[in-house]
Amino acid sequence: MNHFLDILKTDSSDLRGMIDAASKMKQARAGKPKGTPDTDRPLAGHMVALIFEKPSTRTRVSFDVGVRQMGGETMVLSGADMQLGHGETIADTARVLSRYVDLIMIRTFEEQTLLDMAEYATVPVINGLTDRTHPCQIMADILTFEEHNGPIKGKKVVWSGDGNNVFASFAHAARQFDFDLVFTGPETLQPEAALDGLYTTERDPMKAVQGADLVVTDTWVSMHDPQSARERRHNQLRGYQVNDALMAQAKPDSLFMHCLPAHRDDEATSAVMDGPHSVIWDEAENRLHAQKAVMRWCLGV
Ligand code: CP
Ligand code: NVA
Repeated sequence: MNHFLDILKTDSSDLRGMIDAASKMKQARAGKPKGTPDTDRPLAGHMVALIFEKPSTRTRVSFDVGVRQMGGETMVLSGADMQLGHGETIADTARVLSRYVDLIMIRTFEEQTLLDMAEYATVPVINGLTDRTHPCQIMADILTFEEHNGPIKGKKVVWSGDGNNVFASFAHAARQFDFDLVFTGPETLQPEAALDGLYTTERDPMKAVQGADLVVTDTWVSMHDPQSARERRHNQLRGYQVNDALMAQAKPDSLFMHCLPAHRDDEATSAVMDGPHSVIWDEAENRLHAQKAVMRWCLGV
């Protein structure tokens, strides 16, 4: 069963195949209205469940549009409205959904929820973000980097800020796509120990970014973080804001990415987000193309 749970758990040649397929599918649609079905309609007759236990704009819309472009049908489900939110186990939910749909995408809190869904589902399961990982985002980011600046292999990627779920998937990608990843952020928000060996740390952001091909950041307070931690996190992370002074340390043709949603002028200034290095809108668009390739890989179509 081809579940897409984690970049580190997915074969690196399969990951490369998905990026290349995404790029081809994107090119084949160039200039066409968004609602135009793909010529081959590989998901015709397929039903896809999109489950959200947390808010979403990009993941929700890009998966829904992607399935429809490929000729399939979707149902978007809120965890709170399902029996899942009223005590039915993930295992039982997985068994039942597998009788109705061909593919399940879930955005949830604990990674274990995703793993349980995959264990008990008899159809492929895709990770649409957990507290620990966000692999679909990083597939889109790799596609975006390579569209602008060529192969990511051997390049220097610097993450400035919180060592969170999106960072974790970048760390997995550093191993699988063979690029150098540097974390710059406070010791208190260091990535989880399971990622040790996949990246290096440089506490000084100005030093860390020197010679970077790509600078990435994310919100200082994630959906799973308690709101009570907001002020403390802001105080700890203020020195890691991505601004023009920081970007000036990177290579002249470096790119800036943010998975969005952003808190403008906190983790990144508007000048950077809207500036010449920023590829954030391409990054958001590429969620669509990358996930279409992920879904095809899952279904083998
Ligand atoms: N980047 C991302 O996953 O955005 P959403 O939370 O809007 O889905
Ligand atoms: N780190 C963020 C990513 C949102 C797409 C969060 O988990 O809230």
